[in-house]
Amino acid sequence: MLTPLRSTLIVMLLAFAGTAPFSGQEATQNPTTPQSQPGDPWWKHAVIYEVYPRSFRDSNGDGVGDMNGITSRLDYLKDLGIDAIWITPMYPSPQIDFGYDIANYEAFDPQYGTMADFDRLVSEAKKRNIRVIMDYVANHTSDQNAWFQESRSSRANPKRDWYIWRDGKGRGKPPNNWQSWFGHSAWTFDEKTGQWYYHYFYVQQPDLNWRNPEVRKAMYDVLRFWLDHGAAGFRIDAISRLFEDPNLHDDPILPGKNAFGDPNIQHKYTDDLPEVHDVLREMRSLVDRYPGDPVLISEADEPTIQDLDKMYGPNNDEIQLPMDFKVADLNKLSAPEFRRLLDEIEFNPLEGQPYFFFNNHDQARTWDRYGDGVHNEQIAKLMAALLLTTHATPQMYYGEEIGMRTTVPTRIEDVKDPVGRTGWPKDKGRDGERTPMQWDKSPNAGFSTAPKTWLPVPPSAAQYNVAAEQYDPNSIFNFYKHVIALRHEISALRDGSYVAVNRDDPNVLAYLRKAKNGTDPVLVALNMSAQPETVNFTLKGFGVDGKSLHVLLAAPQPANSELSLTGVKLEPFGVLIAAVE
Ligand code: NOJ
Repeated sequence: MLTPLRSTLIVMLLAFAGTAPFSGQEATQNPTTPQSQPGDPWWKHAVIYEVYPRSFRDSNGDGVGDMNGITSRLDYLKDLGIDAIWITPMYPSPQIDFGYDIANYEAFDPQYGTMADFDRLVSEAKKRNIRVIMDYVANHTSDQNAWFQESRSSRANPKRDWYIWRDGKGRGKPPNNWQSWFGHSAWTFDEKTGQWYYHYFYVQQPDLNWRNPEVRKAMYDVLRFWLDHGAAGFRIDAISRLFEDPNLHDDPILPGKNAFGDPNIQHKYTDDLPEVHDVLREMRSLVDRYPGDPVLISEADEPTIQDLDKMYGPNNDEIQLPMDFKVADLNKLSAPEFRRLLDEIEFNPLEGQPYFFFNNHDQARTWDRYGDGVHNEQIAKLMAALLLTTHATPQMYYGEEIGMRTTVPTRIEDVKDPVGRTGWPKDKGRDGERTPMQWDKSPNAGFSTAPKTWLPVPPSAAQYNVAAEQYDPNSIFNFYKHVIALRHEISALRDGSYVAVNRDDPNVLAYLRKAKNGTDPVLVALNMSAQPETVNFTLKGFGVDGKSLHVLLAAPQPANSELSLTGVKLEPFGVLIAAVE
């Protein structure tokens, strides 16, 4: 007899074929969405999707993606099972760092659209139960921001202290040895007033002085502005860089040189200063005053698990979802290493919600970082299963669901990212992971009708695109869609506990997810090796009585969907997600 759970899953499987996600029709609702769960805040169960607006969909044929383009693809996102989108900055900007250099925090760059377009995006998203998370670049502005223009105009200007200005150590000598993340000194000399300003990132991205109460107030007003416009929360950029040592101690020098040819340094006096946490608490108390559980997500590659834990705040009163860069950056398929990292964050003392991602606009796509050149499609499915079946809130990046790859420029003249121009050829920058979304096999992969897109469309678009993959039951796209649906549907996967099993297995990462009431346990087994593996499971010690496995999703699909707990065969990089019965 079919249990209600199994029959729902079969209905879902049948529903995969033949949908037309971006045909303009309203997509059907998922039977159980995270939002409909009583009690928990929505972000604990949401699947969050990062949209890089320049590259998602160009609605006006100028070769650059825009807001109306995103709105036109909301049905696609709904069909995929996405609950919230985080959109990287669309504010007015000289686009030196493609939006991370903000000239005005409370408006939109016309190339992306207008405030009315944004209001429409938010309201159309809401109809589909999709929330919109804004990017909040707190550490720095653009040098074209009116605040900086005033600040640099004279030493006596009332906004002088809104940025970090210091005297140098002598002619042509910066105040100390601090380095920019984007290469070379973090100080730039300003002829007009004869002082140096500090920029953790590019020369055109001066750091705000968060010790100044007026800066704090102005930046908190920015949060209010977007919450009032319907933002569901913020992804906070570079949060650990907010404060610097006021005494300007030199950073310790480490052996070797970096990609920019500078000595390696430890950013001891510019990263993770304790003052960051006072600001995080203030931000959290501000957003907590708004209805709808707005979320704060932090971008910060914390050096240790202790630093990552601290982001939750001593009373869970800082960041709800700190991004886990340790998991994201492992860069090798190692079951023992993933097991250790998952345990580390899963059992954090504050029981803060883990937050995982593998792809974003700053790092090479998983296809290239984890693929072995032989089993890449299979590995893409394995990474999807890992991202979407642990207890952590998952964050995807546009195009990972169709197996997009990193396509780096081959000539420096073609490089758009400033990092790539400074770091060439050792660091070719981040253009490779920002190429246009591959919608179909028409010109420009259906991204734009322009003669030339801002970054070229990769050749792989001919084979890996939404239109082609939608109708292929074995595609990466349908694997993602299926695993997201399972995550929404099955309580154990959505909000259940996590425990690693077969802890000594060197090749297979396996874990058990159990619903809060202990029913319907789900076992996930991921073969992280290029050899077939045979695995035995003894689950009694984990409080699970079941004696067999019912396959919910597997790649490749086994011949039989009922398996014993012993002798479970996994193909190279094989994935098994099964109900324990
Ligand atoms: C992190 C952002 O993700 C990256 O794209 C940007 O260049 C830096 N912060 C500076 O804002």
